Amino acid sequence: MDMDKLVSLCKRRGFIFPSSEIYGGINGFWDYGPLGVELKRNIKEAWWQDTIRSRDDVVGLDCSIIMHPKVWEASGHVGGFSDPMSTCRQCKRLVRTDQVWDQLRESEWFNSLEGVETNAKSLMQWVNKKGKKLAPGLALVRNPSVTLSWLDEKVLKDPDVQIEFKEFIQHLATEQFAMTGLQTPCPTCGGDLTEPRDFNLMFETNVGAVVEDANKAYLRPETAQGIFANFKNVVDTGRVKCPFGIGQVGKSFRNEITPRNYIFRSREFEQMELEFFCHPDESDEWYSYWRKTRFQWYIDHGLQSNNLRLRDHDPDELAFYSKATADIEYAFPFGVSELEGIAHRSDYDLKQHQKFSGKDLSYFDEERWERDKAGLGLTAFKDYLKGRETEEKPGYPYQYVPHVIEPSAGADRATLAFLCEAYQEDEVGGETRTVLKFHPRLAPIKAAVFPLVKRDGMPELAEKIYRDLKKQNNVFFDEKGAIGRRYRRQDEAGTPFGITVDSQTLTDGTVTFRDRDSCRQWRVPSAGVVDAVRDLLNGAPIPEA
Ligand code: GAP
Repeated sequence: MDMDKLVSLCKRRGFIFPSSEIYGGINGFWDYGPLGVELKRNIKEAWWQDTIRSRDDVVGLDCSIIMHPKVWEASGHVGGFSDPMSTCRQCKRLVRTDQVWDQLRESEWFNSLEGVETNAKSLMQWVNKKGKKLAPGLALVRNPSVTLSWLDEKVLKDPDVQIEFKEFIQHLATEQFAMTGLQTPCPTCGGDLTEPRDFNLMFETNVGAVVEDANKAYLRPETAQGIFANFKNVVDTGRVKCPFGIGQVGKSFRNEITPRNYIFRSREFEQMELEFFCHPDESDEWYSYWRKTRFQWYIDHGLQSNNLRLRDHDPDELAFYSKATADIEYAFPFGVSELEGIAHRSDYDLKQHQKFSGKDLSYFDEERWERDKAGLGLTAFKDYLKGRETEEKPGYPYQYVPHVIEPSAGADRATLAFLCEAYQEDEVGGETRTVLKFHPRLAPIKAAVFPLVKRDGMPELAEKIYRDLKKQNNVFFDEKGAIGRRYRRQDEAGTPFGITVDSQTLTDGTVTFRDRDSCRQWRVPSAGVVDAVRDLLNGAPIPEA
């Protein structure tokens, strides 16, 4: 699938626009248009329904974006939520040190060096033809004689010296080898990069009228911490008993250094996070459960399993407190990348908040206590209790800080994956059409209603069907243009069903239904349209031809 074609369709049809485009846009921020907002909403609603509403053991939460700054000290985001960054001394851009070579491989000036011979004459030709325009910051371009003399000294003059391409590029970026050693160039302009420095990814703001350190606050970089901070509040409502989860959907903000790949990595995005609290002895089972359940969710909503991967982290990739983590990855056109992470976070987060807030966040598992007491009998139960608790774990196994399993998904990344998966070009009636084959549950428009012609009472009949359907669903009415073109427009919007009022409707009261994917058509009585659409959206099979 060609990413450029998808991006252009998304703009043209109103899925996604660059934010503030009339002012030239702002990097890392995106707006969802009329179709995009419906798609993303359907994804979030499907998540909310399946992860929260349909379950007895999960409740929802919606907490503030700006929280007490201590939350971010406890979570480690103030001290550690940073990536080592380098700044380009020439163009002043920041670049994530661990991404420099990936970005270089994508950069125009770097790729334009392919095939250029490693001798002074060819390099100077490249400088004059391309380098001055594409890489004005590169040492070879700024100061060719010095750079070439070092290159000559180290590499060119001895034909037996073989160096890797990476090292060769570093030589082109190095002006004063003796003073600086080899330099790594800036992916944008080829200039010198500074030594890596930590750069905190949290957006800062001020609460109240006075701008001073005491009023500093942050836009949340994840929704998860709001759940931990409300753990006790939710337990105190008495509605939940371990094991249970708290889910939240909402905006998060990260000052990403290199927002890239369309909406994949942006600075403002939405997360769909579940924190599932359970007994430490049962946490491994719950981890396996959520790992499988979340993977299956994407398949059930139309992502082909051969485009999806479930990648378990190697032990050396795990955070020190995590027992296990798996990433659900999708094969995007720009590479295989993370859609969602499922992490076994042990009792780390609650213990951190316990430490920083001074509040007891342990949980007394009354149900387990009663169950074990009834199962063992009082005497055996008392014996069992002896020696179970330790000084470190008072009250164990009934009083404990729950372990947490966290499936953490991105709504924007899911939107992108569903768009990539849905995008197809196929042949219909000898013509190529572009179609978005969304799962009906996610499709922005569920059905489109068309009068075949604008006369004989067809528009009125079609409008009535449209109004009836609109009470339940997002549907579309279109009476303009040839019917084939109207079908194509809806195929591009990903609308699963078309309903046409035609001349037969006037004689037998039936309308034509059309299935987007197979283009199969069948007839349904007008009075049964609302039920038929509901059944199809609930997975009823498309009638055979
Ligand atoms: N609470 C855990 C957490 O936030 P994460 O791996 O940093 O973990 C979870 O983020 C998910 O949020 C990712 O799998 C991704 O889907 C989404 N996400 C993270 N950063 C993002 C960004 N800059 N743009 C879009 N989505 C992002």
